[in-house]
Amino acid sequence: MKDKTILLIGATQGTGLEAARKLASDGTRIRVLARNIAKARENYDETVPLVKGDLQDKGQPAEAFEDIDHIIFTAGVTKRPCSEDLIVSTEFEGMKRVLAAAKAAGFCGRFAFLSSIGVENPNWASALLNKIKGNALKWRLAMEDLIRESGIDYTIVRAGYLMNSVSNKRIQLGQNDLALQLRYRIGRKEAARVLVESLRHEEAGGKTFYAVRSNEAGVTVWSEAFNSLRSDDPDQKDE
Ligand SMILES: NC(=O)c1ccc[n+]([C@@H]2O[C@H](COP(=O)([O-])OP(=O)(O)OC[C@H]3O[C@@H](n4cnc5c(N)ncnc54)[C@H](OP(=O)(O)O)[C@@H]3O)[C@@H](O)[C@H]2O)c1
Repeated sequence: MKDKTILLIGATQGTGLEAARKLASDGTRIRVLARNIAKARENYDETVPLVKGDLQDKGQPAEAFEDIDHIIFTAGVTKRPCSEDLIVSTEFEGMKRVLAAAKAAGFCGRFAFLSSIGVENPNWASALLNKIKGNALKWRLAMEDLIRESGIDYTIVRAGYLMNSVSNKRIQLGQNDLALQLRYRIGRKEAARVLVESLRHEEAGGKTFYAVRSNEAGVTVWSEAFNSLRSDDPDQKDE
């Protein structure tokens, strides 16, 4: 992807920052949309273009979306507890604004989105999270739906519990919706890798799947792993 430019949204920290580091170390051009440029600059040298933009703002900066090949979206409300209003105005409405801005700029690349396990498989842990964090999982599924219905090419990665630790375990991808449980976890660096690989491989397009650390089998060849997943669109013929 050396000749590509990737826009990252939510890359001042966490998984987005890991994805940016991976891309930059591979020689891919990156651009970062951030609401706090000074904070973002702490992690990026002057060669990386930063564009100021807050997901809560009605308009998104058009220059962020010009001439980009792909988008990685990992933004979300970090603080908890938080109100449902904050989740909706930042995440759900923010996603609508980003998709609209991308379309307005003629974006025709792939949109990689970091979602979460448990959005379709409720249990006590997801109920607790929804209670503390403004129905975050309900709105995350609604964000996924916005992407799936947008007409933009996409990959949706439902990550397990995100952790900062690094592991040399394999990553497992799958499509039965896992419930939110601590045993289903993944490092932020590993989740970032899945997002980056999803942009590199045509086979990841139009697919929603989970990604967790595995004690057993896992991804060895990315193209084969993505290829083994079914498309979200039942009319799409899988290889
Ligand atoms: N925790 C989990 O186990 C888990 C599992 C699966 C998915 N997720 C979701 O995955 C996403 C990434 O999580 P993470 O822990 O890697 O990242 P994180 O540390 O929560 O970082 C969130 C990013 O979103 C940005 N952001 C927040 N509000 C914004 C706004 N109004 N406008 C623009 N940018 C905004 C933040 O920018 P600032 O620096 O300006 O705040 C930051 O860059 C989150 O949405 C999270 O809910 C979490």
